[in-house]
Amino acid sequence: MQDRTPEQATLDPVERVSVDELRALQLGRLQWSLRHAYDNVPHYRAAFDAAGVHPDDCRELADLARFPFTTKADLRDNYPFGMFAVPREQVSRVHASSGTTGRPTVVGYTADDIATWSAVMARSIRAAGGRPGDRVHVAYGYGLFTGGLGAHYGAEALGCTVIPVSGGMTERQVLLIKDFEPDVIMVTPSYMLAVVDEMERQGVDPRRTSLKVGIFGAEPWTDDMRRELEGRLDMHAVDIYGLSEVMGPGVAQECVETKDGLHVWEDHFYPEVVDPLTDEVLPDGEKGELVFTSLSKQATPVVRYRTRDLTRLLPGTARPMRRMEKVTGRSDDMIILRGVNLFPTQVEELILRTPELSPHFQCVLRRAGRLDSMTVRVERRPQASAGEGERAGATLAGMVKASIGVTVDVEVVEPDGIERSVGKMRRIVDERAG
Ligand code: DLL
Repeated sequence: MQDRTPEQATLDPVERVSVDELRALQLGRLQWSLRHAYDNVPHYRAAFDAAGVHPDDCRELADLARFPFTTKADLRDNYPFGMFAVPREQVSRVHASSGTTGRPTVVGYTADDIATWSAVMARSIRAAGGRPGDRVHVAYGYGLFTGGLGAHYGAEALGCTVIPVSGGMTERQVLLIKDFEPDVIMVTPSYMLAVVDEMERQGVDPRRTSLKVGIFGAEPWTDDMRRELEGRLDMHAVDIYGLSEVMGPGVAQECVETKDGLHVWEDHFYPEVVDPLTDEVLPDGEKGELVFTSLSKQATPVVRYRTRDLTRLLPGTARPMRRMEKVTGRSDDMIILRGVNLFPTQVEELILRTPELSPHFQCVLRRAGRLDSMTVRVERRPQASAGEGERAGATLAGMVKASIGVTVDVEVVEPDGIERSVGKMRRIVDERAG
């Protein structure tokens, strides 16, 4: 793999400040952001008043803990534009997160917000190993989803040549990779796997394409999946995190030189980790629910937004900003099976340690009588015979029992037996009625 560490001199000045300088910058911006939300969004004014706090009460960063949380329900209740803090004429774009049921949550951007987002995305792509002049194949979806356009503007801002492919039409993805020779690909890790399978089907050697860096996010993925992707593609696989409510992709980014978790771009997004049950702020290093406060966003500022993503904060390494550990899952995706908590990422790790099984899998939940059960439906690798696949399935069930402590069924299906998603993969299929 080619060394893709960015030159220090090419980093943004804020990527090289001291932690003290960063904290001072954050405090000034936090005070502005709380006031901006309070003065311009009725929801925040009412919520702060009800909690008995005022923006003037924020004298140090720790004071943020006195302010109320914001949830997805708050955004839904103010659908579509009730959370906007600027007159509609100043909103140059909206995005929305799909949400599986009901109303989407809508977010807005002023021209300045788009510039900020582009800048943090450019910073993310550079941290991932992208360079000005690189060709960047964007296979995140374009549209209301923030993935495509967020990646697109960031790559342009860095000075790259953007290839705006969007998701889907997998055969054509491979054709464009062969012919346009991109250096960087931005796509969900699960869809990247589908593209690699298609390369193999077409007789294209995935290790010999022009790709040098993959920037993978929008869904949880593990270090075992990194090894799988890096091994099959001979390129760097780095993690990008974000959510539409806070901005979109580019809230946090893993650095290619360390691959040790994602640096939160704390000059724009202030992270906290809270205990999801007691709501208490946890010290760095402890695992809980990630919460964000925007520090510079004009159109839709967020104060203590509950992401439901579970992780912990760690000190900075390649950058002064704190890192967040790879997200293991959302609290919504936690499966409780006969009293044992588990996440699909734990299953992914074990599957990837079973050579005959491919990482295309789903966790199917069923109910028999009063008992819940789970079947891991997983494809065997094309190189493995049906018999080898069966035996590997039994091995996997044993590994799940030994390491997670719960009995599951494993159903090994033929290669291509599980539907491919072109964006975020649905890992959990809930067939329990009611
Ligand atoms: O998924 C933004 C994005 C696009 C991020 C492209 C990275 C790349 P939403 O659709 O609002 O926005 O979904 C946000 O996706 O709260 C997490 O649960 C999950 N997520 C995003 N990135 C990661 C990641 C985009 N790297 C939700 N690891 C978030 C794990 C992730 N989960």
